[in-house]
Amino acid sequence: MRIYLSLLFLCIVALSCKTKPEPKKTPIYGPIAENAMVVSARAEASKIGSEILEQGGNAFDAMFATEMALAVTFPFAGNLGGGGFMVYRLENGETGALDYREKAPLLSSKTMYQDKNGNIKPNLSTVGAKAVGVPGTIAGIFEAHRTFGSMPKDSLLMPVIKLAEQGYVITKNQKERLEYYAPIFDSVNGKTTLYSENLTDTVKNIALAKTLKRIATNGESEFYTGETGQKLVKFLSEKDGLITLEDLKAYDAVWRDPITFTYDNLKIISMSPPSSGGICLAQIMGMVEPYDLQQYKHNSAKYIQLITEAERRAYADRSHWLGDPDFTDIPLDSLISEAYLTQRMKSFSWDNATKSSNVSHGNIIGYESDETTHYSIIDSYGNAISVTTTLNGAYGSKLYVDELGFFLNNEMDDFSSKPGVPNMFGLIGAEANSIAPEKRMLSSMTPTIVEKDGKLWMSVGTPGGSTIITSVLQTILNVQEFNMTMQEAVDAPRFHHQWLPDVIRFEPDVFSTEELTTLKEKGYLINEEESPIIGKVDGILIMPDGKLEGGADRRGDDTAIGF
Ligand code: DON
Repeated sequence: MRIYLSLLFLCIVALSCKTKPEPKKTPIYGPIAENAMVVSARAEASKIGSEILEQGGNAFDAMFATEMALAVTFPFAGNLGGGGFMVYRLENGETGALDYREKAPLLSSKTMYQDKNGNIKPNLSTVGAKAVGVPGTIAGIFEAHRTFGSMPKDSLLMPVIKLAEQGYVITKNQKERLEYYAPIFDSVNGKTTLYSENLTDTVKNIALAKTLKRIATNGESEFYTGETGQKLVKFLSEKDGLITLEDLKAYDAVWRDPITFTYDNLKIISMSPPSSGGICLAQIMGMVEPYDLQQYKHNSAKYIQLITEAERRAYADRSHWLGDPDFTDIPLDSLISEAYLTQRMKSFSWDNATKSSNVSHGNIIGYESDETTHYSIIDSYGNAISVTTTLNGAYGSKLYVDELGFFLNNEMDDFSSKPGVPNMFGLIGAEANSIAPEKRMLSSMTPTIVEKDGKLWMSVGTPGGSTIITSVLQTILNVQEFNMTMQEAVDAPRFHHQWLPDVIRFEPDVFSTEELTTLKEKGYLINEEESPIIGKVDGILIMPDGKLEGGADRRGDDTAIGF
């Protein structure tokens, strides 16, 4: 009897050890607000947006001012000379998306970046006036405000103009970046522009303040047909650019139906073409949904393997099928259907890496083959927006319009300049994303809103070129599958695969050597050197008690401010 009892005791101890959950670390929360919040790449922009919300403005009022405040304080990506996408969910559950992506100029052509032998002319799509697409940002914020805004536009611009006049203090991150790029600015623009090498610690952008004052007085036509537009076109034509007044006049922001899909008890609302973000996110999440992710440890070899294989297949489809929906027929329903995604994953095996050379785009029956910034806002009325906006590369084309106070994009590089030739993010495109007058170039921007059990749950997004989609994916999974707070989900180490090149990129020194070795043994190529960070995610999570938790990425100067 005594032996039996001791055995029983040992069994109970052993069982309780086995089933005892790992002690949960104390959760790390980002800033928490009772009512409303803005999370963006700069404290000044989040503050201006949050103050507007506190005065009773809604998310679209705050968008108008936050976007312009980023143009003042974060010229790396904040802009008047670029474009972006906004996804919204109103308090009544209605959702929508706004496309204010740049367009190719009327004088552009399919082979404009190739020489007579069909070779790509270096740098033409990335630096200088020929790289510039017709800017959409001013049209975008005015359209969003016209439809949903509640406060007068000039009162929204007032604090931004003051900021430009009084100046903003350059952060350490910013200083390093500006010092790095200053010689390039000087070679493109000469040595006399605001962001030339002799930059001071506090930047006052008087030219931009004047531009914004004219926009406050004259409205968006100031940018597209007024003095600002005329000066912009003159500036560009002197630099051998293609954009004419006709291009500016023809520009419109467009309302689109967002991509919506479910994942477990979540409904994801994300950006539709001309961004690939929503479709790729739907494909990857659809491919991994049948697996029980919670049984794999976060960022374990198995977890990374599964996500990578889904990413590989989605990016292969991206390169073939996706482009501007106004020019290209996209088999949207098929691409995100359960049957198609199940078929796509049939070639996946836990034993070995699938080679990207053995994966191409999927076949859809009936179809013939033929540096960015994100902000999330939730207002006190329950409206949510998710906005990603960009000049494309860091400071876009590096072309700075000193008289107007802003940089111009190099978004033309997001087109496929030649089938099979990678762009600056290593992305390959085909006919669907070839250049044509007035066409919008394919994007990876993935501003996303998530509902849980039918209620608003998260607004999230990030910069990062081709890594945007996979960073948004991992952030959502971190909260949904691994029970992280918004801040933890944003901070967690990230990896990325995009079909070609056939390599998994990892943020360096933060993944376990053991897991990486397992992946290598299965035939995965890994790269920890390419970039110190992947994405710079900003998000807001609605906590079970209804409060808002901001996740501002510590990889940058990002800041969450609410009340
Ligand atoms: O639209 C796109 O996908 C790119 N132009 C985004 C560029 C970007 O995120 C650069 N930031 N790191």
